[in-house]
Amino acid sequence: MNITQVLEKKIDESKQGERLSIVDNPKGSKKMYIESYGCQMNFSDSEIVASILTKEGFSTTQDINEADLVFVNTCSIREKAELTVRKRLEFYNSIKKDKNPGMIVGVLGCMAERLKEKFLEEEKLVDLVIGPDAYRDLPNLLKQVDDGRKAVNVFLSKEETYADISPVRLGGNGVTAFVSITRGCDNMCTFCVVPFTRGRERSRNPESIVNECKQLIKDGYKEVTLLGQNVDSYLWYGGGAKKDFKKATKDAQENSVSFANLLEMVAEVGSKLRIRFSTSNPQDMTLDVIQVMKKYNNICNYIHLPVQSGSDRILSKMNRGYTRGKYITLIDNIKNTIPDCSISMDMITGFCSETEQDHQETLSLMDYVKYEYGYMFKYSERPNTTAERKFEDDIPNDVKQRRLAEIIEKQQVHSLLHMKEKIGETFEVLVEGTSKKSEEKLYGRTTHNSAVVFPKENYKKGDYVMVEIEECTSATLLGKAI
Ligand code: SAH
Ligand code: F3S
Repeated sequence: MNITQVLEKKIDESKQGERLSIVDNPKGSKKMYIESYGCQMNFSDSEIVASILTKEGFSTTQDINEADLVFVNTCSIREKAELTVRKRLEFYNSIKKDKNPGMIVGVLGCMAERLKEKFLEEEKLVDLVIGPDAYRDLPNLLKQVDDGRKAVNVFLSKEETYADISPVRLGGNGVTAFVSITRGCDNMCTFCVVPFTRGRERSRNPESIVNECKQLIKDGYKEVTLLGQNVDSYLWYGGGAKKDFKKATKDAQENSVSFANLLEMVAEVGSKLRIRFSTSNPQDMTLDVIQVMKKYNNICNYIHLPVQSGSDRILSKMNRGYTRGKYITLIDNIKNTIPDCSISMDMITGFCSETEQDHQETLSLMDYVKYEYGYMFKYSERPNTTAERKFEDDIPNDVKQRRLAEIIEKQQVHSLLHMKEKIGETFEVLVEGTSKKSEEKLYGRTTHNSAVVFPKENYKKGDYVMVEIEECTSATLLGKAI
C-alpha cells in the first residue's frame, strides 16, 4: 500500500467505513447485532431499525456469536464500500456455519435494491434484504424468514421519513446525536448512486424534529447534527416528495418550512443545545441560512460544503448546478457574514475526461478557500448513474491516484495552517469523552468542529469547558482548561 492509498483509507475510514458498535440493551430475549457502513445517514437509519426491533422483543449485543439476527447496513457510494460489505457477509456466513446455525443474516440500506437477487438467490449469502424505506416491514419479513420464505422489500417511498419513530441511540457517547431531517436526493449528480439507492427527496415534519431535539435535551444530550443528503433543500409542506411541492395547495405552499426556518426552530429549542448540520449542497445553500447561523450562538460555525471539483467544465459534467464563480461567491458571503466559519469539503479526482488543467483548477480553488479539512476520493464508476451510462471512465488509475495524492498533500498543508493559527486562542469545547490515548485527558470539539484534547482535572463528559490551545498535531488541538 503506498502513501496515497494509506491516506485515502484513513480518510475513508474516518467518514465512510466505521463499524457501529452497539451498546448492550439487557431487555428483550432475542439478540440483534448491527454493523453500519457509509454515511452518517446510515448510522442514523440503524438506530431506527434498532427501535423497530426493540418493540419486537430484540435486545442489542456486541457479540456476534450470540446474535439471533445480524444486520449489515450497507453503502454503495464507492466500489470499495461494496467490497467491504461483501467480505463482512462472507464472515457472518462462516460464523453461521461453524458456530451459530440459527442466526438470520440481513442486508439493509443502499446495496439492497441493486444486489437483492445476487445476495439472496445466486450467492445465498443472506436470508433477508431490505431497502432504506422499508424498515417498518421488518417484523413481517422476519416472520417470512421464520416460515422458510425469502424475505425482501426494496420499495422506495415518496413519503416515508420515520418521523414518529424514536431512534434507539446506538454506540453513542450520550452527548452528541444525529437527527435525520430529509431522506433521498433529487440532485442527480452524474457520478452519484444515492438518488437510485435512497429514492426521491422528502422532508420530515418539523414538529417531530423539534420534539426529538427536546427529548434529546431531557436525556442529557448537548449537541445534535441535522442530517440529510442535502439539508439546504429541506422543504416541509405537509408531506410528500419535494418534487410534488408544486402540486400542493396554495395554503400548504405558503405555510411551508424551509431549512433556514427549521434551523431557527431547532436553535430555539434550548441555548445549551449545540446544532450542526450536514450535508450542504452549494447549489441549494441560501444566504438566509448563513444569517440564521450568525443570529444563534448555539449553531456551530462550521459548514461541510462539498465542491467535488474546481473546474467549471467538470462541475457542469457532474451536474452540480453551480459554477466555480458561484461557489467562490458563496464562500465569500459565508466569510463576510461569519468570518471565523470553518469550511470543509468533499472532492473527487479523476472524474470522466478530467484534464491536467481541470486538476490544476481544483488545486487553485483549494488555495483560494483553504479548507479546514476535506474528504477526498478517487472517482469510482457506479451503476445506473448518468456517468456510467453516458461517459467513459477514461482517467487511468495511476493518474487518479497521483492527482488524489496531490490534493491530499495540499489539504494537509491547509489543515495544519488552520491548526497552528488556533494556538494561543481559547475555545469553548463540548466534552464528548476521554481521549483515546489517555484516560487522564478529555476529548471534545469546538464550534469549528476541531478536535481538542486537554487534561481532565474535574471536568466530565457533557461539560462545556473553555480551553486555551497550547500546541497541535495535524488533526488535534492540545490545550488546558482555563
Ligand atoms: N450529499 C451527500 C453526498 C453523499 S456521497 C452527503 O451527505 O455527504 C459523499 C461523497 O462521496 C460525495 O460528496 C462525493 O465526494 C463522494 N462520492 C459520491 N459518489 C462518488 C463516486 N462515484 N466516486 C467517488 N466519490 C464519490
Ligand atoms: Fe449524491 Fe449529489 Fe445528492 S452527491 S447525494 S446526488 S447532492
